[in-house]
Amino acid sequence: MAETLYLPDTKNREALYESLVPQIAALVEGENDLIANLANIAAALREAFGFFWVGFYLKKENQLVLGPFQGPIACTRIHFDKGVCGASYTQQKTLIVPDVEQFPGHIACSSASKSEIVVPVFAPDRSVAMVLDVDSDVLDDFSEIDAEWLKKVVELIEQKL
Ligand code: SME
Repeated sequence: MAETLYLPDTKNREALYESLVPQIAALVEGENDLIANLANIAAALREAFGFFWVGFYLKKENQLVLGPFQGPIACTRIHFDKGVCGASYTQQKTLIVPDVEQFPGHIACSSASKSEIVVPVFAPDRSVAMVLDVDSDVLDDFSEIDAEWLKKVVELIEQKL
């Protein structure tokens, strides 16, 4: 797998996902190191869409701990009852937050972050092993299209857990 992404010259998000997701699949296919794969996935998503922040929080004991990410420095530990990440972990489902200021308990790592989507990653025993957190500096930047395609990205990780 070449270490270069080839993306269509479009802002159409679905077209970008259609091109990107098979390339992510090829990237992780030949690599079994989890951290290496999470790092490349975060980089690929940020490169393709220019999101403000893309990264993973991994469940470690009784907290979510910062894992591979792309973007500005972020809070390192999130309790299960805090933030969108904690809510996604606890509810075991994808959460789309159009305006983070309206989300009770949102953790403001950066005031530039306006909207976000968090997708849980399930371990083989169906517990949540980590969450994928994508933040945008644009209000209401995420839709069911992102939820659907990011779920496909997350499944590529789940196959390797
Ligand atoms: N937005 C997250 C916190 C982590 S950062 O934004 C990188 C949340 O409220 O769960």
